[in-house]
Amino acid sequence: MGTVNRHAHATMFGLARHPEQYERSAGRVAGRLHARAARDVAQLGLAAGARVLDVGTGPGLLPRLIADACPELQVDAVDLAPEMIARAQAVAGDRIAFAVADVCALPFPDATFDVVVSTISLHHWDDPPTALREVRRVLRPGGRAWIYDVRWVVRRAEREAIVVAGSSLVSCESPLVGSSMVNPFGRLVVVPA
Ligand SMILES: C[S@@+](CC[C@H](N)C(=O)[O-])C[C@H]1O[C@@H](n2cnc3c(N)ncnc32)[C@H](O)[C@@H]1O
Repeated sequence: MGTVNRHAHATMFGLARHPEQYERSAGRVAGRLHARAARDVAQLGLAAGARVLDVGTGPGLLPRLIADACPELQVDAVDLAPEMIARAQAVAGDRIAFAVADVCALPFPDATFDVVVSTISLHHWDDPPTALREVRRVLRPGGRAWIYDVRWVVRRAEREAIVVAGSSLVSCESPLVGSSMVNPFGRLVVVPA
């Protein structure tokens, strides 16, 4: 993909600059996926103070659900688009820490998070191998990354993750466990060994 196309893709062909418009359409398309991802995090039963990062958060719909379900967790979220982060921060207030950041250069020290999640952002990343290496870097031992996206994107990313994730365990759920074969979404799972 050329530089111009990559930029267009990462900015969702301009939609990333219009978070409210995105939020209206995403609510319809991705609402069930957000609910599923938030439920998956809640079912881990993490200790109070455990840290969760949402990557490519858009207007912050998923971290809001996680913070609602698990107020004892410390939730961070990043996105490449400043407009998305401004909207996310305005709606969520200070219970979630938002930052403008590229998944390929996460502004966190090594081994910071117990869980990294992401929904329907992976297919916009212009360098998935570097992104997955970064996601792996910020995970604590015993942590996990759950990257949800459409199934063929997740299957392709699984091959890239196996190459870059070193001794981590990488697997792919396609479709999501417990859902039917017509569910369009899957999940890439990265667990540091
Ligand atoms: C389809 S939206 C998904 C937003 C949100 N995760 C959701 O489920 O509603 C994709 C988001 O990924 C973000 N994005 C694209 N490339 C990125 C990158 N390299 N680093 C961080 N965020 C990125 C875009 O700015 C956009 O907000």
